Amino acid sequence: MSVKLVDNCDGIELYRLESGNSYVEIMTYGARIHKICVPDKNGVIQDVVLGFENPTEYRGPNPYFNACIGRVANRIGGSSFVIDGQRYILPANERKNHLHGGIEGFDRKTFTATIDGDILRLKYLSVDGEEGYPGNLQVTVEYSFVDGNLKIAYFAYSDRPTHCSLTNHAYFNLNGDYKSIVNHRLFIKSHSITNIDNELIPNGEILDIKGTKYDFSCMRVIGEHLFDNDGLLQVAGGYDFNYILDNDGGAVAEVIGDKSGIVMRVYTDRPCVQFYSGNFLDGTVKGKAVFNRNCAIALETQGYPNACNIPSFPTTLIGKDGFKSETTYSFSIID
Ligand code: GLA
Repeated sequence: MSVKLVDNCDGIELYRLESGNSYVEIMTYGARIHKICVPDKNGVIQDVVLGFENPTEYRGPNPYFNACIGRVANRIGGSSFVIDGQRYILPANERKNHLHGGIEGFDRKTFTATIDGDILRLKYLSVDGEEGYPGNLQVTVEYSFVDGNLKIAYFAYSDRPTHCSLTNHAYFNLNGDYKSIVNHRLFIKSHSITNIDNELIPNGEILDIKGTKYDFSCMRVIGEHLFDNDGLLQVAGGYDFNYILDNDGGAVAEVIGDKSGIVMRVYTDRPCVQFYSGNFLDGTVKGKAVFNRNCAIALETQGYPNACNIPSFPTTLIGKDGFKSETTYSFSIID
């Protein structure tokens, strides 16, 4: 295991975390994952996340490629919330709503890095009022990569009550060819999702999905109903739903690349995961690869989306104990 600085260009540092013949690269810009390189069933190393060739390219337009998302992952309906009787107005960056931390969320901030043994520690101070949120929020994201386990630990402390729900928006294609995830197989340990309106804003209802086309509690191929174009699949243009996890400490999700045999298991202490089938991917280019619709899957571990406006959802408000959370993406080969 080793962590080392491998590139420093135009204000962005790139670190490599190596374990055996696998490695992960993380950059200070957006605390983003640049690469996850792991062996497939034939021993060939595949990079299983979308991304650009060079770290500086992430400064251009892109759909949050593999970035830390904050202060609040997912959507806040109407771009506002109330804390202690005071209404806070956030910038709207998707219709009238606030998505993934706003116009300049954490995906667009440069973190400060230090190496501590096997850990790469990235820190960022989000000042009071940034993107409309109250309180100075000191954020730490720690990455480690040991024996195929990419662990991301989050810590955030605010000097005033504020909302915080951090995640990472990695886009996975476990075949490493960035072509399509329709034949990837998926399991999610969940029997319910949060219902959404036609702007994908959770409206407070919980939907029982047992036995429906949203149910992945028995592993199956993602493409089976992806193009049905009815119900919520039509609203979201594919899968883009918040699954409420039946978390028993084991993997909450598992994905298998059909060509590569690469398996990814997800472990988390968060109550939910957003399963997004890359519906808005639009042909962004990395070298010779083109990232088209459904060429990647995101599994964003998170708190209940829009919880700041829905009292029946577990809160994302943090007090003096702050925000602490861990998610591990674990890579192996199919048996
Ligand atoms: C999340 C959302 C999607 C989309 C992507 C970014 O996964 O749920 O609707 O906004 O981020 O493009």
